[in-house]
Amino acid sequence: MQDIETKQDLEILLSKFYSKLLSDKTINYIFTEIAKIDIESHLPKIIDFWNLSLFGKGDYSSNVMKIHLDLNAEENLNENHFKTWLSHFYNTVDENFSGKNAEIIKTKALSIATVMQIKMHKLN
Ligand code: HEM
Repeated sequence: MQDIETKQDLEILLSKFYSKLLSDKTINYIFTEIAKIDIESHLPKIIDFWNLSLFGKGDYSSNVMKIHLDLNAEENLNENHFKTWLSHFYNTVDENFSGKNAEIIKTKALSIATVMQIKMHKLN
């Protein structure tokens, strides 16, 4: 299995990840009913986010933390949601890629998810 090396790899990874998220009833309503995302316009944003976080490339500039704090104010994001999100993320990475960047992206996702939960006062 190959490592995550290019923006195209991120496109593959993230579209598979969203297939898992959106077919999981315990979390998909947050995307479809609360935030009512349009997947066609949402995917490019998260690809840009990871292109910057993992490769330091591109011009993603939105405040991801604020977006999730606002979302949490609208609909409680609980510990199970974060566990589910992370487990789909880890599984998608592990099913498709292996190597240094595959490990780094999982660690980054965990640390961002942890900061989100601390800011939402769900961890102490
Ligand atoms: C409980 C876990 C999570 C849920 C339910 C969730 C849900 C969502 C939703 C509904 C949106 C769309 C918001 C909108 O457009 O109004 C969103 C955007 C996004 N999420 Fe999450 N999220 C979670 C965790 C995370 C984590 C841990 C990360 C990063 C490691 C992340 C990265 C992003 C990014 C990059 C966007 C796009 C922001 C933009 O529009 O520029 N999410 N998330």
